[in-house]
Amino acid sequence: MIKSIDASASVAAAPELSIRTIIEPFRIKSVEPVKATTCEERVRALAAAGNNVFLLHAEDVLIDLLTDSGTGAMSAAQWGALMQGDESYAGGRSFFRFEAVVKDLTGMRHVIPTHQGRAAERILFHTTLSKGDVVPNNNHFDTTRANIEVEGAEALDLVIPEGKVPSLVHPFKGNVDLGALERLLAERGDRVPLVMVTVTNNSGGGQPVSLENLRGVRALCDRFRKPLFLDACRFAENSWFVKTREAGQAHRTPKEIAREMFSIADGCTMSAKKDGLANIGGFLAMNDDAWAERARNLLILTEGFPTYGGLAGYDLEAIARGLEEVVEEPYLHYRIRSIEYLAEKLAAAGVPMIQPPGGHAVYLDARALLPRIPPLRYPGIALVNALYREAGIRGVEIGTVMFGLHPDGSETPAAMDLVRLAFPRRVYTQSHVDYVAEAVIGVAAMSGKLAGYRMTNAPRALRHFTARFEEA
Ligand SMILES: Cc1ncc(COP(=O)(O)O)c(C=O)c1O
Repeated sequence: MIKSIDASASVAAAPELSIRTIIEPFRIKSVEPVKATTCEERVRALAAAGNNVFLLHAEDVLIDLLTDSGTGAMSAAQWGALMQGDESYAGGRSFFRFEAVVKDLTGMRHVIPTHQGRAAERILFHTTLSKGDVVPNNNHFDTTRANIEVEGAEALDLVIPEGKVPSLVHPFKGNVDLGALERLLAERGDRVPLVMVTVTNNSGGGQPVSLENLRGVRALCDRFRKPLFLDACRFAENSWFVKTREAGQAHRTPKEIAREMFSIADGCTMSAKKDGLANIGGFLAMNDDAWAERARNLLILTEGFPTYGGLAGYDLEAIARGLEEVVEEPYLHYRIRSIEYLAEKLAAAGVPMIQPPGGHAVYLDARALLPRIPPLRYPGIALVNALYREAGIRGVEIGTVMFGLHPDGSETPAAMDLVRLAFPRRVYTQSHVDYVAEAVIGVAAMSGKLAGYRMTNAPRALRHFTARFEEA
């Protein structure tokens, strides 16, 4: 006699399989070939680029970790959303969808689209700063700093001391030094039109800021009556770190945490090329009606009408969808884990780097790896160029070349000489990461043979993009 099978009982009885592997939470629908080159070809390409990897042809790069900005892969839903783009000059449907998503996330009253993050920065600073003002931040990103300095104001970094020591492990190395901020506001508060906090702190190693610290900054801003703006490019990655590292946050969704972060601030600048999961775009959002009006007036002059702000309707659609996808847990889990995975392999081989790794990148400590090369001979450039020459990998120097030049033309070593290996979102697989680990470990082993560089030609502002170098 055939016994009837109670399916529910057999399923319930089976022990649940516990699989620890964290996978890419997507499958690949469209592929883009990458080109392998020989070392000889790369040496020639580097020489033609003046030894500055920014000036290479991207086709000659095998694995491009120059930036995570605008380099991500869009989802099928985002590509589908492009077709919904309303290209009306004024009042387009895509703007209202974009605005609704940004408002739902940030709770801010005014949403001003821009073509990318630095346009939001330029508009904010040009409409709010005067010569001699000071804008504190944990660490200003290079475009943020440049847009402040071009107004004759000072961009002041007030990250906690732990954030300046690459090897020191601290869960929130992006936190603001509240004592230093309090002193600044007490002593020079009349010259501080606004306070900024960058989440995550890119120039300080992609390090997160805790909710507790943000609340502390808010309290000081309230006491001294200053508006607080977030540089929110990587708000979702910051939310994941808060969820996984800050006491009492584990049960909350990344979106709930993100909403709280935004609710603490009065405004934000955003590059949608990062946690907007889009290839272009950004926005400025804020609560203040008068500042928003001034910003929109400048927007019309330099970007476009306030319902498209330098973007196509289809870009607004892609960003709106991207902002929804970026706070999904499986995505953030995979994203942060893939960076940790590389960092673990490099740490096991003794490669010096910022610990713990950041959300979007591993930051190698070029100064520690190449102690024979003094900061003004640019150890970061030496390491970046070796990684390209030996393995076709493109990273970026975040150090003395990027931050060492001052408005008066003098040059001093930056606080750190780092090489950032930033991962585009949803682009590379685990075997690409394995290749990168092997290459970095190989280059680290030949570090004694690497030479420094001197600059042969450089512009005064944002020199790292176009400077040319020769070995010295
Ligand atoms: C923290 C931070 N702020 C601002 C920007 C500027 O954004 P965009 O490149 O879209 O102008 C970036 C870009 O990398 C960034 O990382």
